[in-house]
Amino acid sequence: MEEMGIFQAMHTARALRRLKPDPVPDDLIAKVIDAGVRAPTGSNLQNWRFVVVKDAQLRREIADLYRASMEIAGRAYANRKQPPHMTNDRQKAMMSAATYLAQHFGEVPVLILAWLQFTPEQENPQLPPEHMPTFVRLSGGSIFPAVQNMIVACRAVGLGTVLTTVLAYKEAEVRNIINAPADMRLYAALPVGYPMEGYGHGPVRRLPLSDVTFLDRYGNNWPKK
Ligand SMILES: Cc1cc2nc3c(=O)[nH]c(=O)nc-3n(C[C@H](O)[C@H](O)[C@H](O)COP(=O)(O)O)c2cc1C
Repeated sequence: MEEMGIFQAMHTARALRRLKPDPVPDDLIAKVIDAGVRAPTGSNLQNWRFVVVKDAQLRREIADLYRASMEIAGRAYANRKQPPHMTNDRQKAMMSAATYLAQHFGEVPVLILAWLQFTPEQENPQLPPEHMPTFVRLSGGSIFPAVQNMIVACRAVGLGTVLTTVLAYKEAEVRNIINAPADMRLYAALPVGYPMEGYGHGPVRRLPLSDVTFLDRYGNNWPKK
């Protein structure tokens, strides 16, 4: 099979939440993760750890935690306003897909859990308190590039996935389920499977560059095409 171009993959890698329970070959999963680890990490630590969960009982246990995490996230975002670029229909479609995924999380054949294994310095940073919020904010910088590579790689090999982060609310419980040590931090869970008919990849729609990009100074919008 001819491989798809990188730009085509990036432009069509939609968030897919309706996935078939059919098994996914291990070599495809390895290919996806191998693309993930082409991404950079801070200081080239390569302290990412990926746990591929295929065992049905473990997936069910993690699915229960995913649903509990969704409830926590729901409370956190209870008063969130719909962003102006989302139509009611698109918002509804996204929420209904997110609910579908939560209800069927345990039926997705492969869950890739994306972790960082913290170094002692990361566990106990020697920083003044005013820099701590920034330190915490930056920590995901070493895992999300890999996660995005994996999303694009899934697209390229015909698999569907979506970046989910809510499971981090139940990090301790997930850690127990998979026997991970205490220095592991959970950042993302990628449910991976073949897309259901009618819910496949398609154009990723985003705001125009001229709305989100500035030349030299904020407010000097990048020219419209
Ligand atoms: C940081 C982050 C966290 C996300 N967490 C979740 C999640 O917990 N559950 C979920 O269903 N989707 C989650 N998403 C998926 C987004 O809702 C999705 O990428 C966005 O709506 C764009 O979808 P599209 O690429 O199909 O346009 C997350 C995305 C990002 C970037």
